[in-house]
Amino acid sequence: MKKIIVTIDGWSSCGKSTLAKQLAHKLGYIYVDSGAMYRAITLYFLRNHIDWTDPGQVHQALTDITLEFVPNSKSGQSEIYLNGENVEYVIRDLVVAEKVSEVAAIKEVRAFAVAQQQQMGRNKGIVMDGRDIGTVVFPDAELKIFMTADNAVRVERRFRELYEKNPNVSLEEVKSNLEMRDYIDSHREVSPLRQAEDAIVLDNTNLTPAEQFKKALTLVEGIA
Ligand code: C5P
Repeated sequence: MKKIIVTIDGWSSCGKSTLAKQLAHKLGYIYVDSGAMYRAITLYFLRNHIDWTDPGQVHQALTDITLEFVPNSKSGQSEIYLNGENVEYVIRDLVVAEKVSEVAAIKEVRAFAVAQQQQMGRNKGIVMDGRDIGTVVFPDAELKIFMTADNAVRVERRFRELYEKNPNVSLEEVKSNLEMRDYIDSHREVSPLRQAEDAIVLDNTNLTPAEQFKKALTLVEGIA
């Protein structure tokens, strides 16, 4: 099978990363969670009190940031490191989720992340999920999937995920965070979330992870 690039874009909490991980595992490809990069940058900005409305501070901060994906020694799943620290779990916090879309809308932040994403895909054999992967990062990708699901289903999924880690989280909080991120992500000036013209839509409202995986795998097999 020839190696290809698979891009998975879509709204927040549509199950993009679940599908991307399954596909990468099955195909023996690299999996890259591009959202984790924006989350890690946001974490750095928050921790270091960077005023991200000031381009000078953003520029300096980005020169101080090193991001790496390293496979977990037990699970084999790739996890993100910020300047040598594993931040895979802390970046999922609502504190980061509250600000990440603002930070991800900054042109220089996107240029910083996109250059590294393109570098990771230079040899193909990669599944990357995010918002602009099929439109901006890999516009020539062989397979582009655009995922969607009903809002209520997405809120419920993300709530369950966050509740496991923090029982103080409320459904209302999660709902307003998803709505806010979707709004900012799809209305920003630089690389807004949109479906690539040649993307295939996968609505997983009524699909189990196993069913959506089967559909996506059939798409890959039709190409690779
Ligand atoms: O995928 P995830 O929900 O973890 O992404 C967090 C945030 O990062 C998104 O809401 C969006 O603001 C930003 N993002 C982006 N472009 C990507 C991936 C994520 O702007 N390719």
